[in-house]
Amino acid sequence: MCGIVGYIGKKDAVEIVLKGLRKLEYRGYDSAGIAVVCDNLLHTRRSVGKLCNLTENIKKNPISSNIAIGHTRWATHGKPSENNAHPHTDATNSIVIVHNGIIENYADLKNQLKENLKEFKSQTDTEVIAHLIKKYYKNDLFDAVKRSLREIKGSYALAVICKDDPDTIICARQDAPLIIGIGQEENFIASDIPALLSYTKNMTFLEDGDIAKITKDKIIVVDKDGNEQNRQVKTIHWDPILAEKAGYKHFMLKEIFEQPRTIEDTLRGRVYPNEGKIYVEEVKLSKEDIKNISNIYVVACGTSYHAGLVSKIFFENFAKISTEVDIASEFRYRSPILNEKTLVIVISQSGETADTLAALRLAKSKNCQTLAVCNVVGSSISRETNHVVYTHCGVEIGVASTKAFTGQLAALYILALDFASKKESLPKEDIKKYLQELWEIPVKIGEFLKNVLEINKIAKLFDRKKDFLYLGRHINYPVALEGALKLKELSYIHAEGYAAGEMKHGPIALIDEAMPIVVVATDSTVYAKIISNIEEAKARGATIIAIASSNNNEISTKSEHVIYVPKTDEFVSPLMSVVPLQLLAYYISVNLGCDVDQPRNLAKSVTVE
Ligand code: F6R
Repeated sequence: MCGIVGYIGKKDAVEIVLKGLRKLEYRGYDSAGIAVVCDNLLHTRRSVGKLCNLTENIKKNPISSNIAIGHTRWATHGKPSENNAHPHTDATNSIVIVHNGIIENYADLKNQLKENLKEFKSQTDTEVIAHLIKKYYKNDLFDAVKRSLREIKGSYALAVICKDDPDTIICARQDAPLIIGIGQEENFIASDIPALLSYTKNMTFLEDGDIAKITKDKIIVVDKDGNEQNRQVKTIHWDPILAEKAGYKHFMLKEIFEQPRTIEDTLRGRVYPNEGKIYVEEVKLSKEDIKNISNIYVVACGTSYHAGLVSKIFFENFAKISTEVDIASEFRYRSPILNEKTLVIVISQSGETADTLAALRLAKSKNCQTLAVCNVVGSSISRETNHVVYTHCGVEIGVASTKAFTGQLAALYILALDFASKKESLPKEDIKKYLQELWEIPVKIGEFLKNVLEINKIAKLFDRKKDFLYLGRHINYPVALEGALKLKELSYIHAEGYAAGEMKHGPIALIDEAMPIVVVATDSTVYAKIISNIEEAKARGATIIAIASSNNNEISTKSEHVIYVPKTDEFVSPLMSVVPLQLLAYYISVNLGCDVDQPRNLAKSVTVE
């Protein structure tokens, strides 16, 4: 939530910061702003709405400098407006700040700064930090920020510049991501890697409590106790091209089409189907450790939670370990029964989701083994967990998650098979067979993606509908949930996912002639059951859009529309069956003229509770 970019060096800082913000716009797009120091004066430009409005604003009112900080906002305190847009300044226009996070004691701090009260210009929690820094500023910005942060409670990634110190950016992090990009006679800061990829591959990930002083030639980092730290510099190998649309109309479409490759990348070096071997070397659990696991909790949010629901079936069927799946924001406030024999698996594309991070910390406090399935190298979750399995999906920019989901499924599938192999809970031949099935998935998805225009034809028939139901059973029940989530977040059409067998316990009352029902009916052990559910729905007048295996000759007699996908084994079928649902939601959203890559009210990385 909210993106921050900063630059100090010899180049045009405004251009670099605007370019970086463009890469971070998925983190929030309620407003955007930038601040520079020029001729010992602060200059800010802020605009409501998307970044293009700020770019226009700067074209009309140009500014330039070699130092700048910028922000793209997802509103928490105060509605989207120019006054509430970052950067925020103190009353004398000397200090300026951009911030991602929530200052929990901002009201108390504001009261303490009573004499300045009339000077507050926004309803944000952030502005108080600028006033506080000014209070402590005695010609040493680093010191003033350090003193101010001692009084602040909450979460923050922030960057500060001062008109009297045009060669320094001060930044700090606590429970919100912040990266320093290291260049030659220039340095950068950003909330996330993509903003910096075009400039440097060498990045330092600040840790909680860190405060950094950045000039063009030097970076000093101190930890929460004020001790200077030499934080590790990581080389990031992501290709900057991944952060471009590469000819696709939207990032989401590009990311859907990338799935054969991203799944392959997640499997490469880990899966050897001919030998039936799996190597998940990042997981340092011994055979004994795995045998000692009494139960697994999988904890995540949104799409990652749906991947978790699928993984329950992997862990229970392959590794024979009892598995519970929970939404992170619920898990963290319950009293889950956790002990050192519990393995807690958190799943997060961004590695920064506040609730998932809190769930991980709770698990660690109860001495559980923790393992993260994560896409972003160096993210908070990947650093705090005991073990991390990366999904090698590359940057995901579309706010609606697609390739991250199938990457997570692939990673969880091999993890469960790895456990099965170490526990000897499955015959070797079965492990080999399951690996082979997974290995073939990228090619099958690639085949399917050759005919996507058929899906658009169906989308055009239904894009004016007000409600949709999505049904699935067993391993494809979470896929129905995911299909419904994609549709509602992208097109704002009401959609619900249900376990098809639950329909007759209530939701069937919703069905009438106006209700399209998307049913995941690929070949499986529960296929006959789902056909009965289709019959029940049709008897109440519903229109059925079925997702079925390519060899199915029967289903077209039972459904008005069928989207055929290549036949797969049941356990890998979610990786395949979700793809048409991603595309259906995509095309409906495009046909309705919605903002596919940046749906309203959402942000990609949910770093606040
Ligand atoms: C939906 C979507 C979200 C995320 C959720 C968790 O398309 O993207 O539901 O899945 O916010 O995010 P991560 O995986 O980054 O923890």
